Amino acid sequence: MTHRPLNLMNRYPRVSIRARAAALPCLVLGIALGAGAQVPRASWPTEPVSAPRTMVVSASRIASEAGDRVLKSGGNAVDAAIATGFALAVTYPTAGNIGGGGFMVIRFPDGRATTIDFREKAPLAANEKMFLDSAGNYSYEKHHESHLAVGVPGTVAGLAYAHRKYGAKPWRTLVDPAVKLARDGFAAPAGLAQSLAGEMARFQKYPATVAAYSKNGTPYAAGDTVRLPDLARTLDRIARQGRAGFYAGETARLLVAEMQRGGGIITLQDLARYAPVERVPVRGTYRGYDIISMPPPSSGGIALVEMLNIMEGADLKAMGPNSAAHIHYETEAMRRAFRDRARWVGDPDFNRVPVARLTSKSYAAAQRASIDAQHASASAPADVDVTSEGVHTTHYSVVDASGMAVSVTYTLEYGYGSAIVVPGAGFLLNNEMGDFNPQRGVTTDQGQIGTEPNLVRPQQRMLSSMTPTIIARDGRLVAVVGSPGGRTIINTVLQVVSNVIDFDMNIQQAVNAARIHHQWLPDVIEIEEQGVSADVVRQLEVMGHRVTLGGEQGTAHSILIDRRTRARLGAADPRDPDSGAVGH
Ligand code: DON
Repeated sequence: MTHRPLNLMNRYPRVSIRARAAALPCLVLGIALGAGAQVPRASWPTEPVSAPRTMVVSASRIASEAGDRVLKSGGNAVDAAIATGFALAVTYPTAGNIGGGGFMVIRFPDGRATTIDFREKAPLAANEKMFLDSAGNYSYEKHHESHLAVGVPGTVAGLAYAHRKYGAKPWRTLVDPAVKLARDGFAAPAGLAQSLAGEMARFQKYPATVAAYSKNGTPYAAGDTVRLPDLARTLDRIARQGRAGFYAGETARLLVAEMQRGGGIITLQDLARYAPVERVPVRGTYRGYDIISMPPPSSGGIALVEMLNIMEGADLKAMGPNSAAHIHYETEAMRRAFRDRARWVGDPDFNRVPVARLTSKSYAAAQRASIDAQHASASAPADVDVTSEGVHTTHYSVVDASGMAVSVTYTLEYGYGSAIVVPGAGFLLNNEMGDFNPQRGVTTDQGQIGTEPNLVRPQQRMLSSMTPTIIARDGRLVAVVGSPGGRTIINTVLQVVSNVIDFDMNIQQAVNAARIHHQWLPDVIEIEEQGVSADVVRQLEVMGHRVTLGGEQGTAHSILIDRRTRARLGAADPRDPDSGAVGH
């Protein structure tokens, strides 16, 4: 067993210098995180917030309040999700965004469901070799820390699409709260102040970023008023013009000018052509519950359903939560699903992804049969022996009075994305191109993947792990779940769902419970600090597992509907110090 400080994706992951050498950006992003604003586990709430009609849970209480006000004024869950999304772009800049992308899963009160894919795309001028240096070697810098790492943003187009098709309130009223927050300012919550202070060194490369996110180079302290005037003007253009306020005119011109200044390849044509896609959800069942989740280009829904299908064949309750037997079984399910993710999953507009087969009960039965109850299986790059992803993000959940539920996960990829603020436009650009497989055929035991489906092609969407998910039973809404944290996302969602269904935890306990992570390669189980006893670790090691302890896994801001009273029970994840569950 080894101990590593904060080895898992965190609330405010930072790119550390160590990340350069790592093939697994997501798992090393969190390591440099200071823990000052962290709430000690012993004082975490153990009961969710209860409200009779509506609930919004997000990483920023201020943003949840913006969503709640929209619901109070008669907006539906989609309206509230849009308002919360824009507010997060102001108050939670590590991942809330207009310069990134993400996914929305919607379940309507009548049981129908749909998803909106507003994932970033590779620019028209992208190519498979763009992350290699002149000698043909992989360049971490090009892949994750350059203007080339920026994908064509999708968030504004995605939220505008959701509004046009499913919203009820006027668009402007949903963007205006964010405009006001950015223009008039807000008091920096403790987590944000701490996070920004930790990023100052990384921001130095980009004067517009230092100007936006510090007081002339001095970090904000908790309680200081943060004003973002350039961002306020961009948001105001979006409020007045809709998607054109981002993809055309002044905002587009400023974005492209920054690309040209910094050696990026996004053009006005890339921006004009960007379109979100409405896709059929991935569906599965788990012990009588319906699982509704995100299809490709996310790997999340497929992997979640595959793991649940495998686990359905085991009596987890008898094993007990986080016992050695439970962790062993869950790990073996994770290992298999992450192998299949690497082998098969990429943008469905460019690849034939065998969704039905990977999510079938018969496929899971075959996978289950290969699990030895006493011994760890092996993972090896050769398991995907074809030519074979790479990895801040935030998730929020909304339920309105009618029972409409919205599950949104969106991201800039790393904390603060590329750390590039577009001069004059005030928003941060993603570094999502880092989620493409950088080198054909190079799959390493450290987790770099080189398989075909997720190589860079112009206009392709990079593979994601984001897993916004909704659970129902007998036609009624049960829960809204999701998480940030790169490849840990899928496993976080798996464990929250299993904690509720298998172990009868209330939603706050299910969110709080220590989590584990295994992603096929590297072949190691990561377990959150204080997650399990030394004895359980010993038993796992005897079975042949490698175990690493330390850090925190991604957050999981979730909602459960009380079966009897139909009250909305909101669980803000205390791993996110500024988070809030707000309902009425
Ligand atoms: O789409 C993905 O899977 C990643 N770009 C998500 C990145 C992430 O979750 C980073 N951290 N919290």
